[in-house]
Amino acid sequence: MSDFEHVFQEPPPGAAADWTIPQDWEAYTAVEHQTWDTLYARQMTILPGRAADAFMNGLKALDLNTGGIPDFSVMNPKLQALTGWTVVCVPGLVPDAVFFDHLANKRFPSGQFIRKPDQLDYLQEPDIFHDVFGHVPMLTDPDFAAYMQAYGQGGQRAASLGMLAHLARLYWYTVEFGLMETAKGLRIYGAGIVSSATESVFAVEDPSPNRIGFDLERVMRTLYRIDDFQQVYFVIPSIEALKDETLKDFAPVYERLKGTTDIAIDAVLPTDRVFTRGTQAYAARGGRF
Ligand code: PHE
Ligand code: FE
Repeated sequence: MSDFEHVFQEPPPGAAADWTIPQDWEAYTAVEHQTWDTLYARQMTILPGRAADAFMNGLKALDLNTGGIPDFSVMNPKLQALTGWTVVCVPGLVPDAVFFDHLANKRFPSGQFIRKPDQLDYLQEPDIFHDVFGHVPMLTDPDFAAYMQAYGQGGQRAASLGMLAHLARLYWYTVEFGLMETAKGLRIYGAGIVSSATESVFAVEDPSPNRIGFDLERVMRTLYRIDDFQQVYFVIPSIEALKDETLKDFAPVYERLKGTTDIAIDAVLPTDRVFTRGTQAYAARGGRF
């Protein structure tokens, strides 16, 4: 490990050895609380009929709309009673090993800050709205919570096998940008979608993106973009099915993947179960909303 990397593996001043910092809820300003309320109210006009029941039920169970940014000392006991998870604050993105260790111990690391009023629609770094509104409702679902914990355990292993890039794609296309097949149609469960007003509509209704049935190895081979709406979404049959598919031993999966090439973000393969063959018109005209 180089000295350069070493510096960035140390928690910043004021953070604990596990990179956590106090939420310091009293310090949020009225404007910051208002930002939460605005974002929350806007998503509630969009998500019913688009988000999965597990997400909507989790949101209700956690009571995240009592006025302003949730106070973790109030929210955590409710979450903990349901699945044993808690949410901790971190200063920003943390090293992979730190992230995996938190998940493996049923702690979800959340950014402490909230976006500025002129960044309601887009920001690069995850803030507390993305992390808490987007991620935490799904952690009230026992199967999803088990999946996230197993992901943390699997992360260390993937790192030691040199397969972290492949495992990261699984996270991206499920935890962040996953869709689910339900009797009522496709529904969102991915945090990157439910925390975005524009992508919540795009992901389920726009004719541009491909929507393809979840297949573990297919997903792990697929590239992704971090700077714009996705060009492909993967559809799981249920959270339980996702959990069952990922609790199996990945060692043989990783062995097979080593002999494969990456798949382009707009590819549709003959073996894909296609829900929607996208036009890709949005990406073709340059994207970015
Ligand atoms: N089953 C995986 C392994 O053997 C771990 C894992 C579980 C990864 C769930 C992601 C999600 O490495
Ligand atoms: Fe996220």
